[in-house]
Amino acid sequence: VVLVVDFGAQYAQLIARRVREARVYSEIVPSTMPVAEMLAKNPRAIILSGGPSSVYAEGAPSLDRSLFEAGVPVFGMCYGFQLMATALGGTVDDNGAREYGRTPLHVTKAGSTLFEGTPTEQPVWMSHGDACSAAPEGFTVTASTDVVPVAAFENDEKKLYGVQYHPEVMHSTHGQQVLEHFLYRGAGIEPNWTTTNVVEEQIALIREQVGDKRAICGLSGGVDSAVAAALVQKAIGSQLTCVYVDHGLMRKGETEQVEKDFVAATGAKLKVVDAEKRFLDALAGVSDPEQKRKIIGREFIRVFEQAQLEILQEEGPEVAFLVQGTLYPDVVESGGGTGTANIKSHHNVGGLPDDIEFQLVEPLRQLFKDEVRMVGQELGLPEEIVQRQPFPGPGLGIRIVGEVTKDRLDLLRDADAIAREELTAAGLDRDIWQCPVVLLADVRSVGVQGDGRTYGHPIVLRPVSSEDAMTADWSRLPYETLAKISTRITNEVADVNRVVLDVTSKPPGTIEWE
Ligand code: XMP
Repeated sequence: VVLVVDFGAQYAQLIARRVREARVYSEIVPSTMPVAEMLAKNPRAIILSGGPSSVYAEGAPSLDRSLFEAGVPVFGMCYGFQLMATALGGTVDDNGAREYGRTPLHVTKAGSTLFEGTPTEQPVWMSHGDACSAAPEGFTVTASTDVVPVAAFENDEKKLYGVQYHPEVMHSTHGQQVLEHFLYRGAGIEPNWTTTNVVEEQIALIREQVGDKRAICGLSGGVDSAVAAALVQKAIGSQLTCVYVDHGLMRKGETEQVEKDFVAATGAKLKVVDAEKRFLDALAGVSDPEQKRKIIGREFIRVFEQAQLEILQEEGPEVAFLVQGTLYPDVVESGGGTGTANIKSHHNVGGLPDDIEFQLVEPLRQLFKDEVRMVGQELGLPEEIVQRQPFPGPGLGIRIVGEVTKDRLDLLRDADAIAREELTAAGLDRDIWQCPVVLLADVRSVGVQGDGRTYGHPIVLRPVSSEDAMTADWSRLPYETLAKISTRITNEVADVNRVVLDVTSKPPGTIEWE
């Protein structure tokens, strides 16, 4: 394993992903973890991430210098680079040499371990106030910038390397190459981590954990639960029962996808609960977004609990495990624990009754989203499921601004299907993160169609690009695609006479409208 020490910015997850893209397994640990504990994990290499602080700021995260004396190769980036420099006797000072954003890097030692084969001039992404003015003894300076004399250094003998910039962001055009040079050349690691290993390893682990007991998995229609279920199915076969709650708020074809395609691909035992009427009754007369969310969440938990009780009755009391599609970013964000005892309520699956004791099976806990997709592919899940864009648990219920009714849902389903079809036809699926299609049910506008006046509803297209849904930008879709979607929706969907485009980034807008 390669450990990525997290100094508190968002960079650690990105670094861990890049290491895995280099086909080396990586894990994130907090910078507060004692060095002895890090070393006890037997890391092949350690990467120190960037962070928000100055090394001289009060309360700035630090690191015991014994880390640099353990014989484990270390790569410091940005804040990690400055920590390494100060810990080993170099000079870092606040001399006003700030650099933010794209900066030209001058490689001063061609053929160095990190920069071998990369151009002597390359753009890199900088974000720092303090700067290193003298490298520690025994280190060779390998790059500089117009304002920073020491922008990279290395000590090949001790296997210690550092760069002032952020090689993990795509604006550093040779960043991945530099990272791979550290892993392969500096640390001597063979790139052999693949999702095939993950599948085999997880199947063995699940078999060991579940034994001859039974497990339940809630399917939401999304990628994570589908892949988790497929993996567990492969491991324990008919000992698994999947539950799918049809709340009537899914998009066109999605329920069928789960009922037919998922089952066909995995052979899983599936219990479908048709709860459309129950949800629509509960939502009648409600337009407030938060209230809608609460109602949908509450009903979901009730229906899911009921289904569980029925399965317990059918299958006997040995149903002891609940499968969840928890991903690595959730694990990192919730403190990185490895316990299986506590069951947290998941926005798609809901809480559990107090008197049923389940243990969690979370086979995707080590994986990032793109890796989950690869695992899904490997397990033979259909493309439509594996490449599915994120879709909120409350479904179309929060994409109708106004009261949710069956008619409005059907209308929105038709409009959404057209938008999805055209985006796919234009080959844009992979360019956008997701594209909510929203019905402004309480808004009407005047239009003209044929010879007559219309008084219909607008549909909003909300295509966004994003890395993690925390921030997003509106996607610049080609006009032809937008024109096609607009023409088709206004022609084919009754009661819609306008299509508008949302050109707001997040922040200030959220991705969904409610
Ligand atoms: P927002 O609208 O907050 O959405 O920018 C960020 C991402 O989360 C999805 N989303 C949800 N997912 N349950 C979910 O499982 C929810 O209640 C929920 N609300 C928003 C949204 O589609 C986007 O990907």
